[in-house]
Amino acid sequence: MRWWNDFAEAMSHDAPLGRLTRFRLGGRARYMFRPRSAEQLSAMVVRAKHEGISVKVLGAGANVLVTDDGFDGVVVRLDQPAFMEVDRDGVTATVGAGVELMPFALKCCTMGYAGLEAMAGIPSSIGGAVKMNAGGRHGEFGQVVREISVLRSDGAVEDWPRERVGFGYRNSCVDTEIVLSVRVDLGEDDPTKLKSRFYEHFAAKNKSQPLKGDSAGCIFKNPEGKSAGALIDQAGLKGTRRGQAVVSTRHANFILAEEGATASDVLELIEVVREGVLQTFNTALELEVEIW
Ligand code: EPU
Repeated sequence: MRWWNDFAEAMSHDAPLGRLTRFRLGGRARYMFRPRSAEQLSAMVVRAKHEGISVKVLGAGANVLVTDDGFDGVVVRLDQPAFMEVDRDGVTATVGAGVELMPFALKCCTMGYAGLEAMAGIPSSIGGAVKMNAGGRHGEFGQVVREISVLRSDGAVEDWPRERVGFGYRNSCVDTEIVLSVRVDLGEDDPTKLKSRFYEHFAAKNKSQPLKGDSAGCIFKNPEGKSAGALIDQAGLKGTRRGQAVVSTRHANFILAEEGATASDVLELIEVVREGVLQTFNTALELEVEIW
């Protein structure tokens, strides 16, 4: 009996991953799993662990570079109705991990609920926004989180209060756990004000970042007290290319994948940039994107 027989209707094989990422690059997943319920996800996770097969969740694919070889394990997509629910109770809402961050944030603004205006221009799923503590200069997702529900790799579901989630700069304590849903606490404000703040943040981001190109946003984390983009820029690396991957001339911490690029082009360019900044400023840049 095949290990996935009990949940075969949610499993596919040899699934292309590139088109599910914002880089639009990379190989295929050995398995793709689109669970219909948390129970089904739990059952799969337990079986996969037993079989020694790795499991990863792909949200909006905005912070991931899939290698050309692809991923030899199960990629989970939380895009079925069980993971897309939004349950509002005044200023509090419980949001499924598969919900898209930006439309949700904008809807909150429109309804007069404050706290997510800074999510403008950040492509992410809610689950990804928790794991990475998505954000920027004007705020981070973790600021509104009261509690999250996670599935552990042994199949058990746990509720974590925000203190346990341990939000930091572009990270949290969510590791092998899978975020199922998030409870957020919002404020109240005038919808017109909230919407204009949202669109102001969006416009500012759009002006300084190449949002329309194929990229994974900022490639490196900002080193303490410094801007990775400014360092890469001052090292003279804007416009540097390997194959069809190029360092953006608009914001140096973005690598754009042009027509025909491969994940290997991007990986090579990442090393060139890292080496250039190390040689020029003696600063070792740390990746913000995940490489699969
Ligand atoms: N700068 C340059 N050249 C560049 C890019 C930036 O000189 O090519 C300078 C800017 O002029 C500015 C400073 O560097 O003086 C900081 O730049 P910016 O305001 O663009 O912010 P950042 O630190 O590069 C961070 C986040 C972004 C987020 C913005 C705005 C990180 C790694 N990046 O960028 O997040 O959108 O603030 O809030 O934390 C992401 O996480 O993917 C991302 C894009």
